[in-house]
Amino acid sequence: MAFTGCHRAVPPSFSPGEELLKLTEGLEDEEEIAIYQDLQGQVTAVLREHAGTPEKPLLLGNREPTDAENGQLKRGYQLYSKYCVQCHGVNGDGNGAVAEHLNPKPRNYTHGIFKFTSTPYGHKPRRSDLIHIIKRGVTGTSMPSFDRFSKEDLEAVVDYVLVLAYRGELERALAMIAYDDEELPDEEGIEEVVESILQPWRDSSTELVMPVTMMPPMTEESARVGHQLFLKHACNKCHGMFGRGGSMGNVEVGADAWGYKTAAADLSSGMFRGGGRPLDIYRRIHSGINGTPMPAFEKLFAENPDAIWQLVHFIKQTGNRRRLGLEPLGEADLPPGLEVPVAAMAEATNKEAPEAEKSDVAEPKETAEADDADEDKAEGEVEEPAEKASDKTEEPAKDATEESSDQAP
Ligand code: HEC
Ligand code: HEC
Repeated sequence: MAFTGCHRAVPPSFSPGEELLKLTEGLEDEEEIAIYQDLQGQVTAVLREHAGTPEKPLLLGNREPTDAENGQLKRGYQLYSKYCVQCHGVNGDGNGAVAEHLNPKPRNYTHGIFKFTSTPYGHKPRRSDLIHIIKRGVTGTSMPSFDRFSKEDLEAVVDYVLVLAYRGELERALAMIAYDDEELPDEEGIEEVVESILQPWRDSSTELVMPVTMMPPMTEESARVGHQLFLKHACNKCHGMFGRGGSMGNVEVGADAWGYKTAAADLSSGMFRGGGRPLDIYRRIHSGINGTPMPAFEKLFAENPDAIWQLVHFIKQTGNRRRLGLEPLGEADLPPGLEVPVAAMAEATNKEAPEAEKSDVAEPKETAEADDADEDKAEGEVEEPAEKASDKTEEPAKDATEESSDQAP
C-alpha cells in the first residue's frame, strides 16, 4: 500500500475540499468566477501557512514547532501514508483509494466530528479517545486495530489526524466566510477563526463522562428491566423490539453528518463499534453518538442513572445470547401487556423480512410502565442469564457486520 522505495517526482499535496470547490460551482459570470477563484487561491495559501503540506505538516495554532514536535509530525505523516491514507485519504476526507468499496465509510476528519468519545454529546474527542480507537479499531467495520503501534507511534499518528481535522475545519470555516463576505479576514481575523476552532478541542480535554453510580450486578432481572426501559424510551423505534436494528435493514434512521445513509446498530450481534465494555456502552447511551441519529439520553436518565446500567445489561445480554448460541429473544420475552405492533413482530421473528415492511418502524409503546415496580427486585443475585439453551439453531451465523448492500449516495 505504501509508496516506500518508489521515487515520486511530485510530492503529495492537499487538494481543495468540497466546501472550497463549491465557491465556483455553477458560476457563469466571468468576473464572479475570477473573484471566487482568487478567493480559493487565498484560502489555499492560508491553509498552507497554518497547516503546512502533507510532508511538512503543522498543527493548527503552532506555526513554529520545536525539532521534537517536527519529528513527531513527520513520523505521523509516514505512518499515516503507510497505514491510513488508502482509506482516510490525503486530506483526511475519508476518500482514500479503497473507500468507495467500504461501508461504513472511513471517517472524514475534516468536519472535526468523531463518534466514539468519552465526552458529552456534541463535544470533541479527548486525545486519549483517538489513541484508544486507533489502538482498538472499530469492531464490525473495516477500521483495523493498530494495537502493535508503539506509544510513540500512536502519539505521532494522532497528531497527524489532528493536523488533518484542524485543517479541514479551518478550510470549511474560511470557505464559508469567503462565500458570505467575498473576502477573507485580515491576519488578526484569521487568528480568531483559528482560536474558535481550537477552543472546543481544548475544552473537551476536561470533559470526561463517568457514570454517577457504580454498575449494579448484572442479573437476568436487571436485563429484563433494561428491556422494558428499552421499549419504554423508544429505543426500539430505531433498534427494533429486540435490539436487532440495522441488521434487519428495514429501519430507516436517516443520514449521518457526513452525508451517508446510516443504520441503527444491531445490538444483538455482540459486536460494538464503540467498544464492548459496559462503560463503553454506558457512554454511547449517555452521550449518544456524534454525527449519527443515535441521540444522547443523559438528560432523560439524569434522575435515574441506574437505568442506563439496566439498558447496558439488556444490551450485553442480547449480545451474549448469540455468542452462547441461545435462542434469540422473542415474543415470550416481552413484558406482559405490551401490544406488539405487527410489523415489529415480523421483524423480530422473520429474518428475511420482506421488502414491503421496509419502513415500518415500530412505534414506541408506553405500556411497559406498569412493570416499573419490578425494578427494585433487580438487586442482589449475581447470575449469568440462564436461559434455556435451545438447540434451535435458528439464527446461527447471520453475519452482523452491517457491511451490507447499503450503497452510500
Ligand atoms: C481499511 C480502511 C481503514 C484503514 C486502513 C484505517 N481506517 Fe480509520 N476508519 C475506517 C472506517 C471505516 C472508520 C469509520 C467507522 C465508523 O464510522 O464506525 C474509521 C474511523 C476512524 C476514526 C474515527 C473514530 C471516531 O471516533 O469517529 C479514526 C480516528 C481513524 N479511523 C483513524 C485511523 C488511523 C490513524 C488509521 C491508520 C493508522 C486508520 N484509521 C486506518 C477505516 C479505516
Ligand atoms: C433515532 C434512532 C435511534 C434511537 C431512538 C436510539 N438509537 Fe441507538 N443507535 C442509533 C444508530 C443510528 C446507531 C449507530 C451509530 C453508528 O455507529 O453509526 C446507534 C448505536 C447505538 C449503540 C452503540 C452500539 C455500538 O456499536 O457501539 C448503542 C449501545 C445504542 N445505540 C443503544 C441505544 C439505546 C439504549 C437507545 C434507547 C435508550 C437507543 N440506542 C436509541 C440510532 C438510535
